[in-house]
Amino acid sequence: MPNKLAYVFFLAMFFLATLSVQAHAKEAAADNYKAYCVQCHGMEGSGKGVNIRDMSVQPRDHTDAKAMSARSDEDLFKVIKEGGSSISKSILMPPWGGTFSDEEIRDLVQHLRTLCKCKYGS
Ligand code: HEC
Repeated sequence: MPNKLAYVFFLAMFFLATLSVQAHAKEAAADNYKAYCVQCHGMEGSGKGVNIRDMSVQPRDHTDAKAMSARSDEDLFKVIKEGGSSISKSILMPPWGGTFSDEEIRDLVQHLRTLCKCKYGS
C-alpha cells in the first residue's frame, strides 16, 4: 500500500514538473521575442517594429494566419536559425543560430504559432 501511494505521489510530482517546464518554455520564448524580434516584427508581432521605416523589405506580420499557416514548423525553425536567405527570403531577417539553442528556437516557433493562432496548413 505505501508503495502505491509513493507511486501516485511520484506521478503527481512528475506531472507538476512537466507543467512547470512547459510554462517556463512559453515564458522564455515570449521574453526572447520581446528582446530580439519586436524591433522589426513589432510589439504585437504585426510586422510594425520601430526599425521598419528604413527597411527595403518589410518584416513578416506574424499575426497573419494566412501567410504563417503556409509555413511548416521546419521552415520557421530554419528561417529563425539560419536567417531569411535560408528559405530564399531577405537577408534583413538575421540568423539567430548563434544566439539561441535549437530548443529555444523550437519554443520561438511555438510562440509564433500563438501569435498567428494558426498551424501549418490551417
Ligand atoms: C533586423 C530586423 C529583424 C529582426 C530583429 C527579426 N526579423 Fe524576422 N524578418 C525580418 C524581415 C525583413 C523578414 C521578411 C523577409 C522577407 O520577406 O524576405 C523577416 C521574416 C521572418 C520570418 C519568416 C516569415 C515568413 O515569411 O515565412 C520569421 C519566422 C521571422 N522573421 C522570425 C523572427 C524571429 C523569431 C525573430 C527574433 C528572434 C526575428 N524574426 C527578428 C526582419 C527581422
